[in-house]
Amino acid sequence: MSIAIQTYSLLDDHECEERIRAAKEKLGDKVVILGHHYQRDEVFNHTDFSGDSLKLSREAANSKADYIVFCGVHFMAEVADILSRPDQVSILPDMAAGCSMADMADLPRVKKAWQELSEVLDPDEMISPVTYINSAADLKAFCGEHGGIVCTSTNARHVLEWCFKQREKVLFFPDQHLGRNTFATMEGMSMDDIVVWDYDKPLGGLTPDAIRKAKMILWKGFCSVHQMFKPEQIDQFKEKYPETLVISHPESSFEVCQKSDYVGSTEFIINTIAKSEPGTRWLVGTELNLVNRLHEQFQHEGKNVHFMSPQVCMCSTMFRIDPQHLLWTLENLVEGNVVNQISVPEDVARQAKIALDRMLEVSP
Ligand code: 13P
Ligand code: SF4
Repeated sequence: MSIAIQTYSLLDDHECEERIRAAKEKLGDKVVILGHHYQRDEVFNHTDFSGDSLKLSREAANSKADYIVFCGVHFMAEVADILSRPDQVSILPDMAAGCSMADMADLPRVKKAWQELSEVLDPDEMISPVTYINSAADLKAFCGEHGGIVCTSTNARHVLEWCFKQREKVLFFPDQHLGRNTFATMEGMSMDDIVVWDYDKPLGGLTPDAIRKAKMILWKGFCSVHQMFKPEQIDQFKEKYPETLVISHPESSFEVCQKSDYVGSTEFIINTIAKSEPGTRWLVGTELNLVNRLHEQFQHEGKNVHFMSPQVCMCSTMFRIDPQHLLWTLENLVEGNVVNQISVPEDVARQAKIALDRMLEVSP
């Protein structure tokens, strides 16, 4: 019988730290711990590999470990399950670690949109469905089934280029900002080619004519963390420190990204700041745990890393993974118990893998 989580809830972080190390040592190469950059330090410090969504998907696909413990959010552990071997086990230390943006699109609403679009044109002939990796497995399966593809913040541009070679339009879900910011970088495309699909309204709140003219149909989803960043925050900061370089995640608004010197994934943000000259000042528009880590890491090199918003913008669902849950997961594995396994049904996984494999093929 598995050990109950209640036994762990009151443990302090220091005790967890020592016991996590001991459990990892006992498990050896049977277990790999993957961690997204937004994880808090007390968890992040135990990861074998860290990365953005694309890098972690590749790690999961290449891992030889029996158990993949994913310190991230639900869709990431699903991707690990889909891309790993059938006998490998993907584990999410806390099942409540979801992604509020991913929840903004679901299969019934996307199917309804596809059906409504088919009243105006033939979507399977004319529209490539693209789902951001921040989405449930059944939406990836929908894309696999309908000639579509998955993207991450790293490869969105390559994915859109691939799509426009296949079909003349894209339906992009759930994040309108990543879709808009990426489309804006493509040659020959105009912002007038974009429409936003409001999934609460019939025909997405659009006219048939607007749909016929559009190239990019953006789902009305967003990230509640990145929507806190505002262009005024950049202006105010630069008034004080005009030499500042601004770097933002593409889930931030179009206005914020337009005012940024660099836009890219979490891994891109880290690498860009790492490569910059000593003395550089950075204003960063992404999640707080990562920005705090960058501040700590690079202050010794004389780089100043600042958080863009005056408010705390942490991803509360990433934060669900705490050392207590990680320890609970690992000590259960030591006892031979698997807790919190993420298992995508076989038929969904098969179709989703088609869309994920297409993405991995077109990724840089
Ligand atoms: P990255 O793939 O850039 O790490 O982004 C994942 C994410 O959820 C950002 O909010
Ligand atoms: Fe989802 Fe936003 Fe959290 Fe990323 S930061 S996992 S998009 S809620």
